[in-house]
Amino acid sequence: MFENYFSKNAQKMKGSEIREFFELTERPEVISFAGGFPNKECLPTAAVEKMSSRLLAESEEGMLQYSPTEGQEDLRKYIVKFMAQRGIKVGIENILVTSGSQQGLDLVSKVFVDPRDKVLTEAPSYVGGLGAINNYQGDIISVGVDEEGIRIDLLEEELERLACEGETPKFIYLVADFNNPTGLTIATERRKKLVKLAEEYEFLILEDDPYSKLRYEGIEQPAIKNFDREGRVIYLGSFSKIFIPGVRIGWIVAHEEIIQKMILAKQATDLCTNSIGQRLITACGEAGIIDQQINKLRDFYRKKRDVTLESLTKYFPQEATWTEPEGGFYTWVELPGFLNTKEILLKAIEENVAFVVGSAFQVNGKGHNAFRLSFSQPDIDEIEEGIYRLGKIIKGEIAKRSGNQKCIGC
Ligand SMILES: Cc1ncc(COP(=O)(O)O)c(C=O)c1O
Repeated sequence: MFENYFSKNAQKMKGSEIREFFELTERPEVISFAGGFPNKECLPTAAVEKMSSRLLAESEEGMLQYSPTEGQEDLRKYIVKFMAQRGIKVGIENILVTSGSQQGLDLVSKVFVDPRDKVLTEAPSYVGGLGAINNYQGDIISVGVDEEGIRIDLLEEELERLACEGETPKFIYLVADFNNPTGLTIATERRKKLVKLAEEYEFLILEDDPYSKLRYEGIEQPAIKNFDREGRVIYLGSFSKIFIPGVRIGWIVAHEEIIQKMILAKQATDLCTNSIGQRLITACGEAGIIDQQINKLRDFYRKKRDVTLESLTKYFPQEATWTEPEGGFYTWVELPGFLNTKEILLKAIEENVAFVVGSAFQVNGKGHNAFRLSFSQPDIDEIEEGIYRLGKIIKGEIAKRSGNQKCIGC
């Protein structure tokens, strides 16, 4: 009814496939590998309750009043220290507090993307990042990945091709650590090369990093931002996965000139980020509660990751392949090309299991035979049972296609 009233831009906005299936996948009887939510068992309810009452009693105004658009100064100072732990040395003038890193994705797209501007992404890539770029009508060009993350050879080919057409991409969007959806991490040498290419071809890098603290094995990789000499890397952080998503606190680290422009963009969006959340995060951070929570989460999710990978080996057919993430929430499963994971999802939902289909993370119609499994929410027993049920469905589908019905469920 209102289609003609919507702006041309709004008419082009489309919902993600994750949201389409949300109602089905979040029913209580469903073992859901769909959402990338932190596990509810691990939410630090008691610490948050205690700290909130203390803060309210101490400084009602600091909690309940508007705050500066760029974020409360104490929180920005805490973020500066938090970034220093990651080896990123910046001042508070380089920090903008946002309503989750999702707002960071929106603000970056808002201030950099004009309709038809070229933006590079990994393929597959986080739906929320793709959605933000799409909303400003950026022209997304996806670059393939292998087990060490984005393929530099393919990226160079793409950059050359664009250069021949007289085009410079505005930025490349990357989730370098434990990517959503693949769980992959970009190798250090590739991170250095990415910065070199950005300098050579004069584009920016958007590094979205909500997961790097959730490492369950292996050595922490330096952030791409660590190699940045010219201020080309815009870094997004978030307290959602490592502490609590409900307060919606994330941040942007960038060159001061970029931060100033984003402050203007944010003023028209929400004036300022949630004051209660900012005070709470600062106080919990300063009291060491966030660091304790991160340590606890590493042990908690490591077990889930391990059971996920063991169950995949035990119950999935040999035709399936999957990534082995060293951290984060996700593994990416690929099935033979003749299978369609949308059809498999419908069967899985009948068996009360859910995941997100691979095509949700692609812009080029690929991913029909892949899916994302998120192991953050189900408990250990549910993970094994859910993967057993999925394995049975997939084996059945493979057997059907190869005319070998006897094999169903084997
Ligand atoms: C890669 C990535 N970026 C950004 C977000 C958004 O997180 P936030 O809660 O900080 O807005 C998510 C959430 O799943 C994510 O996986």
